[in-house]
Amino acid sequence: MVQPEIKPRVYSVGAQDWQRKIFDELIPLPEGTSYNAYIVRGSEKTALIDTVDPTMTKELMHNLEEIKVQRIDYIICQHAEQDHSGSIPAVLTKHQEAVVVCNEKCKGMLIDLMHIPQDRFKVIQDREELSLGDKTLQFIFTPWVHWPETIVTYLKEDTLLFTCDFFGSHEASYNIFVTEKEKTRRAAKRYYAEIMMPFRISIRKHLELLTQYTISMIAPSHGPVYKEPLTILRAYDEWTGDSVKKQVLIAYVSMHGSTRAMAEFLSDALKRRQVETLLFDIAKTDIGELAMAMVDASTIVLGSPTFLVGPHPVAAYAATLLNTLRPKTKYFAIIGSYGWGTTMADYLTAFTSNIKAEILPPVLVKGLPRMEDLEKLDELAENIASKLLQG
Ligand code: FEO
Repeated sequence: MVQPEIKPRVYSVGAQDWQRKIFDELIPLPEGTSYNAYIVRGSEKTALIDTVDPTMTKELMHNLEEIKVQRIDYIICQHAEQDHSGSIPAVLTKHQEAVVVCNEKCKGMLIDLMHIPQDRFKVIQDREELSLGDKTLQFIFTPWVHWPETIVTYLKEDTLLFTCDFFGSHEASYNIFVTEKEKTRRAAKRYYAEIMMPFRISIRKHLELLTQYTISMIAPSHGPVYKEPLTILRAYDEWTGDSVKKQVLIAYVSMHGSTRAMAEFLSDALKRRQVETLLFDIAKTDIGELAMAMVDASTIVLGSPTFLVGPHPVAAYAATLLNTLRPKTKYFAIIGSYGWGTTMADYLTAFTSNIKAEILPPVLVKGLPRMEDLEKLDELAENIASKLLQG
């Protein structure tokens, strides 16, 4: 298949990975993913922007042949993670003239991760430009999206921004460009939630920086290309901003039904007070859905039974995820049931120390909740609702 030109002499040459169901052995990929790579042909030099996952090297090579790429002068590595850098050694072997263009941090990582020889690098600085003849690449350092070495690349003459993981979405597609806006928005939000959310503050600064550039197209290295870049720029502005929705995320696990009864009672009590709730049984839920709900929720409630002497391992996992993803939630509470040990809440509080939210008093119940326990949950609902409805 001939790969489409996304701009004059700029070609998409990456790979669609329909079969991949999980990333990093952690993140579910309901829509598969893609590893996008791009050829930019200037009048004098040719650059390859990113490569693909090593499992898809053959597809990249095939796509390069399809558009008759004889020579690659530069391999621009925007991010050292192997799903984008994994085919660099194969491209370097085939194109002996090529050098890897990246920043100093990325160079060190590629030497460690890929054993790329020292003499195959050209190190660039922030905002440095590289001429391909009638096309010019400018490199903009955007650290912590989501590794410390990440950059984006601006093709000046075409006002095209290559962004690697930034603005990406795990979505395999026959279409190079966004065609189903809502589907891609969801995939991009899931991607943001799972990978970018902990770096929200850095990303906000980069968004501010990008306002200095005229951008007519955004070409990430996962998911479709944006011909209407404002859609994803505005979505990122919303997700990384400080405002939250009046939503309460209740994530629970229950062994014998007591914690479930508490979670459902709390959810109903909040709904009666006109507060929207998102209820997740974390033993069964897709963690991507849970992560997406964390992006906007003003309040997160974690429910766990006591398992032996601590929290249920599934709740501990959810707490670790929360602590890692660091959502911008304003309020956080723990609820749960126990038989004889009462340290569950202490463990979960310790596991979630990164969350910069107001901690609401926990509601812990011995066995099945009694009327007085339900009253405590009702008080928690009232407390949350009054904070949200006043705020
Ligand atoms: Fe798509 Fe951070 O790699």
